[in-house]
Amino acid sequence: MPGTNSCRCRFVVLVSGRGSNMRAIVQTLRERELPAEVCAVVSSSPRAAALGWAREQGIATEVLPHQDYASRELFDAALAQAIEAYRPDYVLLAGFMRVLTTGFVERFNGRLVNIHPSLLPSFPGLHTHQQALAMGVQWHGCTVHFVTPVLDHGPIIAQGVVPVLAGDTPADLADRLLQVEHRVYGEVVGWLARGQVTLDAMQRVQVRGVANRSFILPSDGGY
Ligand code: GAR
Repeated sequence: MPGTNSCRCRFVVLVSGRGSNMRAIVQTLRERELPAEVCAVVSSSPRAAALGWAREQGIATEVLPHQDYASRELFDAALAQAIEAYRPDYVLLAGFMRVLTTGFVERFNGRLVNIHPSLLPSFPGLHTHQQALAMGVQWHGCTVHFVTPVLDHGPIIAQGVVPVLAGDTPADLADRLLQVEHRVYGEVVGWLARGQVTLDAMQRVQVRGVANRSFILPSDGGY
């Protein structure tokens, strides 16, 4: 069990691209000397920059190009098999840009966690920064949540917010938000590693010993 001294919590991280959240997760586990490790990074794309960094760190990598599979079901079956080989306690989606089938999500129920670049339930799907600017919201954010079969809609573990500033472009907002994404995902993996956050049978997030699940950056003000 994660959170006991006798056992390290095992994470598999799924990526599709740059991998900055993956790096933040690995670095947080190491810097805080948490009883946990990233056992493997699995990518849906051979071109994902995340793969090079993971290999340099000595982390096992797997690539499953989604184009090689005739259906979502076949891709997800291969993905599940690749993941299970590492016997993870949790599977962390970190910029994994594939919609997962209900079968896959249910197989990993309570062990599948995602980061989404909006304050869910606002702005599910793609282009969240454009959506936020178009709506005129004054605060934007990210959400780390357990994954359910409904896209970008699952029990919320933690959220982080940043202000929207006059003249912001989607790229400005994405850059600002990324800082808080790294902070929030780092905190959440620490809680998972110590067994402080779980999903109960009623699909509710249960928390122990965590005072604050909301984050605002920058914490030193300046806006
Ligand atoms: C992050 O902003 C993450 O929140 C987002 O993709 C980016 C990946 O960046 N995820 C989604 O949009 C999932 N729906 P990264 O590869 O540098 O972590």
